[in-house]
Amino acid sequence: MGLVMINEKYQVRMKVNGEHYLTVWMEGQTVCLIDQNALPFNFSVYRSKTYMETCHAIRSMIVRGAGAIGAAAGYAMAQAFMEAPDDIDFIQKARLTIENTRPTAQNLFYAVQRVYEAGQTSTQNALTEAGEIARENIDDGRKIGEYGNELIPEKARLETHCNAGWLAFVDYGSALSPIYIAKEKGKDIFVYVDETRPRAQGARLTAWELKNEKIPHAIIPDNAGAHLMQQGKIDMIIVGADRIAANGDVANKIGTLEKAIAAKTFGIPFYVAAPVSTIDLDCPDGASITIEERSEEEVHYQTGLSDKGEIHKVMVSNPGSPAFNPAFDVTPASYVSAIITNRGIIKPEKEAIKSLMNMVT
Ligand code: MRU
Repeated sequence: MGLVMINEKYQVRMKVNGEHYLTVWMEGQTVCLIDQNALPFNFSVYRSKTYMETCHAIRSMIVRGAGAIGAAAGYAMAQAFMEAPDDIDFIQKARLTIENTRPTAQNLFYAVQRVYEAGQTSTQNALTEAGEIARENIDDGRKIGEYGNELIPEKARLETHCNAGWLAFVDYGSALSPIYIAKEKGKDIFVYVDETRPRAQGARLTAWELKNEKIPHAIIPDNAGAHLMQQGKIDMIIVGADRIAANGDVANKIGTLEKAIAAKTFGIPFYVAAPVSTIDLDCPDGASITIEERSEEEVHYQTGLSDKGEIHKVMVSNPGSPAFNPAFDVTPASYVSAIITNRGIIKPEKEAIKSLMNMVT
């Protein structure tokens, strides 16, 4: 089933070949995920029938991006309840296994906690809660887009890092959502897309999304950002977030910090877009955020399309040299101009964050 039916309450936007898709959804006991490792060369859907298979999808980044990871983790927790509704040990082990897939994205822990609690009363409640998290995720992305659009001037030239679009959420996205809404409102905009080594989420996924949306863009090497800023070619930067600490420090894809430092140097606004479910009040500051380290292999190898149209994995670095692969970095709050959330735009400050979290919606 390609076409995903969604509660009328929630407006969906993502289309692939003219058909509405979500990044993550559930059919019966099966979690369906757009396979992000296959993009942009192949569009396919990965179907996981057990919570363990969903964990594999999160770990191997078939599904990635904080919001999408959160939705998938919530569904994985619901799957565990469906697999063994009366086995407390099984459920607790499942929770730990899901939480150990990827350590940085707050949305994963947020979703698992909610579904685990809901499942204490019934399996059906766990499933309903997981669906609700996915629907909220869509709604949050749309609201981030509406607030963020207000910050985008006509003829803006933007830069973004990694992928924080539909694919990083269930729909809409965080950093790309304001860009989609700006385009919808008829603004003439241009997006510079950081390629985002080593996994190239910018070059592969953001570029694929922007092309689908017919938004003018160019992929730039990761090390080109500061040069473009110095040349006056970038008006604003919008990135997503994997976790925001109580003091406004932001963890996001490795390389984000360098962009923020360059932006401050050249007086360019640096915005972070994220739903409140990415904010972790238990985490006092960026130094307390766990930074995932991924395999050396991701640095050594790249996968791409040959001239003959075949997908190949090739080594791109010196054989035998060790590599180091931190997946995220922390941008101090002082480098962030504002945080665009689903409840409005705030300064990255402790008090503002606290009142945002306490806001009655
Ligand atoms: O390692 P990834 O691809 O999961 O990292 C994704 C990012 O860093 C995104 O920028 C981030 O999740 C914010 S968008 C939800």
